[in-house]
Amino acid sequence: MEFSIHHYDEIDSTMNVVRDYLVNNPTKSHGYIVQSDLQTGGRGRYGRQWISPIGNLYFSLCVTPNVNLTKASELSFVICLAIGEALQEILPKKTKMLYKWPNDILIDDLKVCGILLEANTNLKNELQGIIIGIGLNCLDFPESGTLVPATSLIDRGVSAANADKQKMLDRILQKISFFYEYWLKNGFQHIRELWLERAKGLNEPIKIRLEQKELTGIFRDLDTQGALIVETENETIKVTAGDVYFKST
Ligand code: BTN
Repeated sequence: MEFSIHHYDEIDSTMNVVRDYLVNNPTKSHGYIVQSDLQTGGRGRYGRQWISPIGNLYFSLCVTPNVNLTKASELSFVICLAIGEALQEILPKKTKMLYKWPNDILIDDLKVCGILLEANTNLKNELQGIIIGIGLNCLDFPESGTLVPATSLIDRGVSAANADKQKMLDRILQKISFFYEYWLKNGFQHIRELWLERAKGLNEPIKIRLEQKELTGIFRDLDTQGALIVETENETIKVTAGDVYFKST
């Protein structure tokens, strides 16, 4: 996969710039990346704010796979694995890195990276492209006010040289390229298995906050398309969206 990186000092959100490019250049946007040193309107899932001070990695990448929207949602696991593999290379050996459904990366149960997927469809409702936003706390992290307590690479004992955001971008893009091609060629099955090996809270009680209600149950599995399988008191259900809380946190 070939990437073209467009670097800004300051921007509202890298998601917006990539989206504008995709809308205007739908056939040329595969691999288009916007990175910014800081964001004034960084956003997270469900429109939450992503505080984006200088020192961390903020970028959005556009991909245009020839798949439908359901299949495209598997990409959040593909990207999570890619970043996880890049992090494993630089984290101190005994550090515990886990994936929190659907697309957070935790170190020692603290959030170090968030991934946001936004799909763009054309007027005929066909998928034009997916914009993948990645925020990785290299140096800095919010000390309070986040849903999941946060950390940074430096805070977890990574050396300053390895926590450098440009080096991390290089490492992550190499892994994204590998896992993206792997997924296109071989499908989701193995990606799913690798993700599950590092799933936070597997076979443990979890609480899920959906838009209208809250559910509790045991996190049992991921289905073949990445939905969370939860065993509640009365039934086994599939969850495709929502916030997941672990009972211990
Ligand atoms: C989340 O965990 O809620 C996802 C956070 C995604 C943040 C990144 S930073 C780069 C890109 N630009 C944004 O405005 N958001 C994403």
